[in-house]
Amino acid sequence: MVSLEGRIALITGGGTGIGAGIARRFAAEGARVFVTGRREEPLRMLADEIGCQWLAGDVSRPEDARAMVAACVERLGGLDVLVNNAGVARFAPLAQTTEAVLELHLAVNVKGPYYMAQAALPHLIARGGNILNIASTLGVRGLAGATAYGASKGAVVTLTKAMAAELAPQGVRVNCICPAVVETPIFETVMPREAVAQALEDMVAIHPIGRIGQPADVAGAARYLCSGEAGWVTGAILMVDGGATAV
Ligand SMILES: NC(=O)c1ccc[n+]([C@@H]2O[C@H](COP(=O)([O-])OP(=O)(O)OC[C@H]3O[C@@H](n4cnc5c(N)ncnc54)[C@H](OP(=O)(O)O)[C@@H]3O)[C@@H](O)[C@H]2O)c1
Repeated sequence: MVSLEGRIALITGGGTGIGAGIARRFAAEGARVFVTGRREEPLRMLADEIGCQWLAGDVSRPEDARAMVAACVERLGGLDVLVNNAGVARFAPLAQTTEAVLELHLAVNVKGPYYMAQAALPHLIARGGNILNIASTLGVRGLAGATAYGASKGAVVTLTKAMAAELAPQGVRVNCICPAVVETPIFETVMPREAVAQALEDMVAIHPIGRIGQPADVAGAARYLCSGEAGWVTGAILMVDGGATAV
């Protein structure tokens, strides 16, 4: 099946930002979409907008991961595409990064995709499905003040490659997108809200294309990697970054 028409896609962190952009695009392509996140309100609002299904849950809890996959399969009849998009970012210098902050990054950004993939795997194998992990350009290059985040996203890159190698013989593709700066609510968790607009403007300069990204920019790449058009693509780490890592 080349298009996403009729495919069943579970998108973690799908209520906001990049995840919501992917959910909107997949729904527009005819996919049947299931979104998750910890807060109910953004999920409910997106469901009203695009008619998707949703369940609140925490990807860092294996029992929640199993429950979210089970609800998707029960309500929509299966699972073809898992998008591991949920993530957290808290920036601080190495010396000031607490054990709790380091643990948070590893729990949500690394263990989350791992638990979700474990729960989804039997369903993906049964239907020849695929997994898309959302890492970051900070998973392949260093940024001062982002050691915990960078380490977690570097792990997502390597996890993608290991899962791709392991699951290819079972007919499951696994790919990864590394976005650079995309305008989403995540920046309100790394700096004061009133500083975000200026910071985003300042960060235009690191993108040779001359603008920061929007969720729709990532959604287009996600649509390709999750569709049958990418049927011979697995273990790919795709920079969707306005050229930020080209220089
Ligand atoms: N924006 C960028 O510039 C950028 C660049 C590179 C990579 N990324 C990555 O893109 C992904 C999406 O981020 P975004 O920029 O779109 O920011 P966002 O709008 O804050 O999205 C993050 C989503 O993850 C969910 N989430 C957080 N912790 C969770 C948990 N423990 N369990 C389940 N869901 C959880 C959040 O919902 P709840 O709070 O309701 O749980 C939220 O919907 C992240 O993995 C991020 O690291 C973003």
